[in-house]
Amino acid sequence: MSKTPTYVTPEALKRQEDAIERIAALPGKPQTYHIVTYGCQMNAHDSETLAGMLEGMGMREAQDRLTADLVLFNTCCVRDNAERRALGNVNWLKELRRGNPDLIIGVCGCMVQQPQMAQKILKQYPFIDLAFGTHNVYELPEMLEGLLTSGKRAIHLAEEENQIAEGLPMKRQSAHKAFITIMYGCNNYCSYCIVPYVRGRERSRRMDDILREAEGLLQSGVQEIMLLGQNVNSYGNGTQETFPALLKALDALGVPRIRFMTSHPKDLSDALIDVMASGKHIARHMHLPVQSGSDAILAAMNRHYTREKYMERVASLRRAVPGIGLSTDLIVGFPGETEAQYQDTVSLVEEVGYDSAFTFIYSAREGTAAAKLPGQLPESVTGERIARLIRTVEQGTQRAHASMLGKPEHVLVESISKRDGAMVSGKGSRGITIVLPGSQEDIGKIIPVTITQSAANTLRATRQTEGE
Ligand code: SAH
Ligand code: SF4
Ligand code: F3S
Repeated sequence: MSKTPTYVTPEALKRQEDAIERIAALPGKPQTYHIVTYGCQMNAHDSETLAGMLEGMGMREAQDRLTADLVLFNTCCVRDNAERRALGNVNWLKELRRGNPDLIIGVCGCMVQQPQMAQKILKQYPFIDLAFGTHNVYELPEMLEGLLTSGKRAIHLAEEENQIAEGLPMKRQSAHKAFITIMYGCNNYCSYCIVPYVRGRERSRRMDDILREAEGLLQSGVQEIMLLGQNVNSYGNGTQETFPALLKALDALGVPRIRFMTSHPKDLSDALIDVMASGKHIARHMHLPVQSGSDAILAAMNRHYTREKYMERVASLRRAVPGIGLSTDLIVGFPGETEAQYQDTVSLVEEVGYDSAFTFIYSAREGTAAAKLPGQLPESVTGERIARLIRTVEQGTQRAHASMLGKPEHVLVESISKRDGAMVSGKGSRGITIVLPGSQEDIGKIIPVTITQSAANTLRATRQTEGE
């Protein structure tokens, strides 16, 4: 059952606002910041909030970490390598501080939220000035003020994890595309996954708050909204609100393009498929992580669906939304995975024909159920399995791209092509990068095109002329 969320109190938010103003007026405050973001869109979006608060203090974004007065690492711990990379980079900054004693170093995000991590940071990383977890993002102003005015090192980890902070400042990365978080946390406890431990219990924002945010974005000219949650399908659990209802309301607002991620296959309802089929603005794409094609592994992963159920959902989606593109996440080398079970994943990928897939080697995370399972596989096996799987995914991508030749698409143009200044590029409704002839004027617009060429990662297109 989902927890009813509580909200960060207006008083606590006001304290942050006041701290932002006081820091802005502080002589000798840091002038520039640089945020290094690891992990998923949740973290990317948290970084937009952190940047918004720092800008409110009058700081500017530095080109890179070498020239910044304050560097924040927003970390991920979903796999061991993500964590090692973040810590390696933090250590590297220690050297940088030798030349710049005033440099402020902070770490935040999922890695910090792990049990024992705060202790480890205190002891092993004495040069870290600020450390805070995923539930404490909104407290950055107070922490920073303490550091600047009394040199107090701040380590903040919330005990109350189900709070939502509304109305924080935000510096969005793009003028055309925006993230909106609709739900925080996760209750699924897939046996391999650390996210529920570091992001807390599932809690959904109020639909009114989400719609108000979307309206504001629409007025500012945003063309595409990406709704974020670890399992958007369970949005509103425990309340009257549901994800299909939210999607319908956003579609009615007239946001030109709506995306969402991630969808858990076990909760992909007929009602959602109906809204996708009837909606005018919902992108023809779904990220639907399958993880494995073997029923035994899916059960051990605690995913609550079978291969058959997954394939049935895919078929229903494709029937209702012709031309929909699918992408997925795959894990190889789950404890005890046999060659035959691995082959089930390969055959599922061949059967579905994904536009793209993220492929991961299983990484044991302390505190998760799967970390205690026997049969952890050696790298010699997992490395070879992932290489073969990547080839299968690539073949599927090529087939999917080839099937789009001659078909119409709509591209949200984001940039001038680096290779050819007379070309622009952006994403189509299916989320695939498309290159087309164009100029600066097209940036931020949705342009109708016809696909003419397919390559490994991109498609080429011509512009549809009037009446086509
Ligand atoms: N909530 C989303 C995404 C969570 S993390 C979902 O359920 O789909 C993104 C991906 O990382 C997961 O889909 C999974 O494929 C991968 N992942 C998570 N934990 C992992 C682990 N311990 N080892 C390897 N891959 C993992
Ligand atoms: Fe992790 Fe599973 Fe939750 Fe996704 S649904 S965040 S994989 S526990
Ligand atoms: Fe990583 Fe945290 Fe996202 S662990 S994948 S940044 S929710």
